[in-house]
Amino acid sequence: MNEAATTAIRIEKTQQSRLGEVDYDNLKFGQVFADHMLVAEYANGHWEDVSIVPYGNLSLSPATSALHYGQAIFEGLKAYKFDNGAVSIFRPDQNHARFNKSALRLEMPEVPEEVFIGGLKALIGLDRDWVPQTAGASLYIRPFMIGTEAALGVHPSDSYKFIIITGPVGAYYNKPLRLKVETRFTRAAEGGVGFSKNAGNYALSLHPTRLAQDEGFDQLMWTDAKEHKYVEEAGTANLVFRVGDTIITPSADTILHGITRRTIIEIARHWGYQAEERKVSVRELVDGIKNGSVTEAFAAGTAATLTPISEIGYEGQIYTLPDPDEREFSNKVLRYLNDLRYGRIADEFGWNFMVD
Ligand code: PLP
Ligand code: COI
Repeated sequence: MNEAATTAIRIEKTQQSRLGEVDYDNLKFGQVFADHMLVAEYANGHWEDVSIVPYGNLSLSPATSALHYGQAIFEGLKAYKFDNGAVSIFRPDQNHARFNKSALRLEMPEVPEEVFIGGLKALIGLDRDWVPQTAGASLYIRPFMIGTEAALGVHPSDSYKFIIITGPVGAYYNKPLRLKVETRFTRAAEGGVGFSKNAGNYALSLHPTRLAQDEGFDQLMWTDAKEHKYVEEAGTANLVFRVGDTIITPSADTILHGITRRTIIEIARHWGYQAEERKVSVRELVDGIKNGSVTEAFAAGTAATLTPISEIGYEGQIYTLPDPDEREFSNKVLRYLNDLRYGRIADEFGWNFMVD
């Protein structure tokens, strides 16, 4: 299925850039889109046409399979502008690998490196002026793939579109989060699709999240499907805790294997912290908050970056974490990550992919 290189990327530039209309001082998440998008077509068993065209609407049959049976997967990553104007994409190889894992689970074709990474570099190279230089801002990149066959039988689509859109963004969350431990609804069960980044995982989260928001929470802390005893992740990010001097993140195939979380664990180990990926029970967490051994908790994700968790609601009780300003590891790792992504310190791990 994983066909080798396609033909070169065809480029059709926009006649009229929209860049001048963007208010870079008031960027919200995911509302403004750059001038161009990449579109690749899969048919007859291979990727046949890869082009960069002006950002615009798609034309699809109402019978498009993704709209009915949900063959729809995506990724999220970011490009940053250094002080000297250079542009880098953060760890796109990891997103490419995860995208193909999602594709496999949903019986969709893999996207070859020339299209995914080559396409990213070509697209962001063309729209490099869209990458913000304002503090805390970046260019969010959304690669996605949908089944496009116009047929209502339940079977894998025989054609797909792989598309990359981008847009300048600010913070996804602008304050510490209040999370509710979800003990009724389930995000993912063993053997299911929790590890894959598919549209359905987000659709199913909307109603339970709305109910929690009605109670004053920002997001859910999902738990395991069987017993609702073990912490999994938040709906848009992974979770990381500091227990004593150990950095801990839940591990399971029912959660998305986040690249931010992995990055933070790798940095923690490099700094000499003990870092563990393991099961974390809600009881361990709330008892630790009560007795003072859990001193830090945050959501980690591309959109979320590192967002402190201020409160956790569980079985009608609220557990309050220490003041975010006083969290040594969270603040240190966020500062380090920002310095690395904006090119202010040496990239000792080789995580910045420079765009020509
Ligand atoms: N979990 C979910 C459900 C997500 O949507 C995301 C965001 O991509 C994450 C975790 C964090 O993953 P990453 O750090 O790769 O962005
Ligand atoms: C991301 O962090 O890239 C995500 O995909 C999270 C969310 C916006 C769905």
